[in-house]
Amino acid sequence: MTQKKQLNVGLVGYGFMGRTHSNAFLQAGRFFDLPYRPVLKAVCARNPERVASFAENWGYESIETDWQALVARKDIDLIDIASPNNTHAEIAIAAAKAGKMVMCEKPLGRTADEALAMVEAVEAAGVPNMVWYNYRRVPAVMMLKDLLDEDRFGRIFHYRSQFLQDWTISQDLPQGGEGLWRLDASVSGSGVTGDLLAHNIDMALWLNGPIVEVSAMTQTFIKERKHSLTGEMHPVTIDDASAFMCRFQNGSLALFEATRYARGHKALFTLEINGEKASASWDLHDLHRLEYFDHRDESRLRGWKDIHITDGDHPYMKNWWVPGLQIGYEHTFIHQVADFMQAVGDDKPIAPSFRDGLATEYVTDAVLKSATTKQWEKVLGN
Ligand SMILES: NC(=O)c1ccc[n+]([C@@H]2O[C@H](COP(=O)([O-])OP(=O)(O)OC[C@H]3O[C@@H](n4cnc5c(N)ncnc54)[C@H](O)[C@@H]3O)[C@@H](O)[C@H]2O)c1
Repeated sequence: MTQKKQLNVGLVGYGFMGRTHSNAFLQAGRFFDLPYRPVLKAVCARNPERVASFAENWGYESIETDWQALVARKDIDLIDIASPNNTHAEIAIAAAKAGKMVMCEKPLGRTADEALAMVEAVEAAGVPNMVWYNYRRVPAVMMLKDLLDEDRFGRIFHYRSQFLQDWTISQDLPQGGEGLWRLDASVSGSGVTGDLLAHNIDMALWLNGPIVEVSAMTQTFIKERKHSLTGEMHPVTIDDASAFMCRFQNGSLALFEATRYARGHKALFTLEINGEKASASWDLHDLHRLEYFDHRDESRLRGWKDIHITDGDHPYMKNWWVPGLQIGYEHTFIHQVADFMQAVGDDKPIAPSFRDGLATEYVTDAVLKSATTKQWEKVLGN
């Protein structure tokens, strides 16, 4: 067996995403033949006891409690940022300046300005970079991308996408601090626009091309919440719900919606695309299925196909079990690590790059601006 080159990972943050990323770094090389072997070299977070316990559970060789010390280490090749949104820019820019590869959770920055500074830093340093828009790597979604690239849909008329949750309906839920930083705009940047819609937008830009202009509305249903860090009531400044319509550069029209107030829905990420010759739809709760309608089918047999994306000729699936057996959420992160390592090994472009992440931020900025001005707003960066 040939000895693989090691790629030493330094992870920042051991929360929800810290776990998905650690699992992905451990599993990727076991299921995909990669030019590098990711090594869990160090994990960083501020609480020494908790970070030590995380390191032991996942097999990290060492810990740090200050991300600057992690970035300064000579034995780290890749900084992986899985901490809240207000930390992304500072860590990514420092990591790029130190010559490290950088992977960063979404949204890239809290605003397009922050994201642009991050793009400039990684491009100036010439370091491989990637944003964790992991849903691109659901096999059914990758299959849809392939079908679009094969031009099976003809001219595209419509795109629609939603991300529905219900976990912030209670007035008693505090804002700020651990787990609840998403409700504090100074940390998150925005509410569901940057947290949820960013996923829908990244996927839409990738599948259907640039968005030119948007008209949006947002709502903050609960205006005041106790802040976990001060114990006092503070105004809520995030958007609880966000909806917008837009025009794509290819002439198609679209509707997007995200909320954390859709009672009964936990993570219902959906999309549908309608073209002249074909349509497709997908949803995260049934992530291994792609619904596909092809108007060129014989008219007597024409109808929606419910394709179970588990066969060896479906994207990624030959690396997993046998046809008919499904994979899940965590595999999207494993695929992203595998594709990243392969691209670095082949010296090929990596997607979604920081520049791709910036494109999403130009759209989310336009959405938030339009919700305030109540006017159509152009998307910058096109
Ligand atoms: N790709 C996805 O589908 C997805 C899903 C969830 C979250 N996210 C993104 O991932 C990031 C983290 O979200 P999460 O849900 O894992 O959050 P979390 O609250 O579960 O975990 C955050 C972690 O960051 C650590 N942290 C906070 N400040 C730090 C600092 N200054 N230095 C070092 N560590 C610090 C915390 O201790 C914690 O371990 C966010 O940017 C979020 O938007 C992406």
